[in-house]
Amino acid sequence: MTTSPDGQHARLALATCAELPELDPDDVPLRTALEARGIATDVVVWDDPTVDWGTYQHVLIRSTWDYTQRPLRFTQWTKQVEASSVLLNPAGVVAWNVDKTYLRDLEARGIATVPTIWLDPARNFDSRAIHTRFPAFGDFVVKPTVSAGSRDTGRYRADETPQRSQAIMHAKNLLGVGRWVMIQRYLTQVDSAGETALVFVEGEFSHAVRKGPLLQGPYREGDQEGLLYREEVMTPRDASEAELELARRIIGLLPEVLGLDGPLLYARVDLIPDDEGNPVLLELELTEPSLFFEHAPGAVDRFADAVAARVTAG
Ligand SMILES: Nc1ncnc2c1ncn2[C@@H]1O[C@H](COP(=O)(O)OP(=O)(O)O)[C@@H](O)[C@H]1O
Ligand SMILES: [Mg+2]
Repeated sequence: MTTSPDGQHARLALATCAELPELDPDDVPLRTALEARGIATDVVVWDDPTVDWGTYQHVLIRSTWDYTQRPLRFTQWTKQVEASSVLLNPAGVVAWNVDKTYLRDLEARGIATVPTIWLDPARNFDSRAIHTRFPAFGDFVVKPTVSAGSRDTGRYRADETPQRSQAIMHAKNLLGVGRWVMIQRYLTQVDSAGETALVFVEGEFSHAVRKGPLLQGPYREGDQEGLLYREEVMTPRDASEAELELARRIIGLLPEVLGLDGPLLYARVDLIPDDEGNPVLLELELTEPSLFFEHAPGAVDRFADAVAARVTAG
């Protein structure tokens, strides 16, 4: 256990956002489990200018979900914290992971990902150029590469002209403020099968949960005004062999992709089924994933043990 000059154990900061000053409810049992292991914690708002991060030996990122509108400020903060503390996960990992263009690095290494068309804001696409990149049939999704909690994400019908126009406006608005945009076919098996989130602790599979489908229709400006994230319906789930195999392969690639010399404290792999029912990677969450402790017995203790081991090792 790290001790300060006055003999007190160093405190651990759990980083959150101003809207959740007491953490997300899912993380409240984590705090209790850490205190039970002798780890004193403070819940600290990541962009609070009055905080002296140097007083914390370790900073654990949790519910910092409001960074998506200012990712640069967030990644600068991670570097600032890392100058005086141990940040979990590290700043270099966060910098790679806050922008979903990381999916291309994994796809290049043979990981099945949701097929995506990427729009670079520097290319100044006009409406027609955007329109020709949408699929002709079925539903499709328009979303920014930097997002969390389904923010700024919409689902559109390819064969309905008004919806295509809305989708063009949506993409244009994101590109207009310098954001990269992703276009994906909506993988409809999500509507019945849902999404599977697989949580890994120190590189080992811990538990899985089912997330219900989230996208009903077009994105409308102001829809999520004042909302940090879209309401999610989580239930326990046993991951299939195919899901476990893919998730383990992704986790196994991270040391090479990120130049790590050991596993990450936490990682969450979000998979959805493609049209044949095979799992494909939707998102790899190494920054601020909900870990869904309440849906898996023992999960909070496994994670608290892992955090305690890191903090104790100094
Ligand atoms: N291509 C897609 N097919 C089906 N559902 C999708 C697709 N893309 C996004 N979604 C839905 O939108 C949600 C949010 O998208 P996601 O890529 O996970 O971004 P975020 O970082 O906001 O969680 C997903 O949980 C899923 O329900
Ligand atoms: Mg997601």
